[in-house]
Amino acid sequence: MMERMEPFASTLDLQTGVMNPASQVLRRYLSGMSDLYADSSAAQRILAEEGVRLIYEVYVVDVPEAEGQVLHSTTIIYPGRIGQEFHMTKGHFHVKRDRAEIYLGLAGTGALLLQTDDGIVRSVEMRRGAVAYVPPLWAHRTVNTGDAPFAFFAAWPGDAGHDYASIEQQGFAKLLVSQDGRAVLIDNPRAR
Ligand code: F6R
Ligand code: ZN
Repeated sequence: MMERMEPFASTLDLQTGVMNPASQVLRRYLSGMSDLYADSSAAQRILAEEGVRLIYEVYVVDVPEAEGQVLHSTTIIYPGRIGQEFHMTKGHFHVKRDRAEIYLGLAGTGALLLQTDDGIVRSVEMRRGAVAYVPPLWAHRTVNTGDAPFAFFAAWPGDAGHDYASIEQQGFAKLLVSQDGRAVLIDNPRAR
């Protein structure tokens, strides 16, 4: 039997994406995800020159990770590039592959990159007010393609779980890069 919880509300700053209260704020730095970027020498150069580079933050609302719950969070990806590749999240499949997710764009501009197990890739543009649907079975990653922080709200089933290892191992078959001032989707030269 599910335990009864008290209803509650968190406050979301619609301009910045900051959520309050958040049970945790995850901060992802380049040092912890440099292998995910295609241009590893650019990543090493930035690490040597800057020491620390914050790529994104995730504000997580305190909801149990259990069937029947709806987990929700906001993500803020700071603008920047590693070589030509825009700042992005690590990306993951849900452990339960048939669990979907909804993203709502709040601020800035970005893209949602999705990939199937057999390497099909799709890109969905995200901006304030865009409601993006991550269907079951698709790995997903978000990318900041603009010059300002890109923030979005996410909601997904409490028993979905996160599988990061598959993306760490196989990577995404496409990259979002800056070419002549535009965001362009290209084949990943390091795709496995
Ligand atoms: C949850 C979800 C998002 C991401 C967040 C950070 O299922 O898709 O809330 O967790 O955008 O990205 P990752 O988890 O890939 O580091
Ligand atoms: Zn997800």
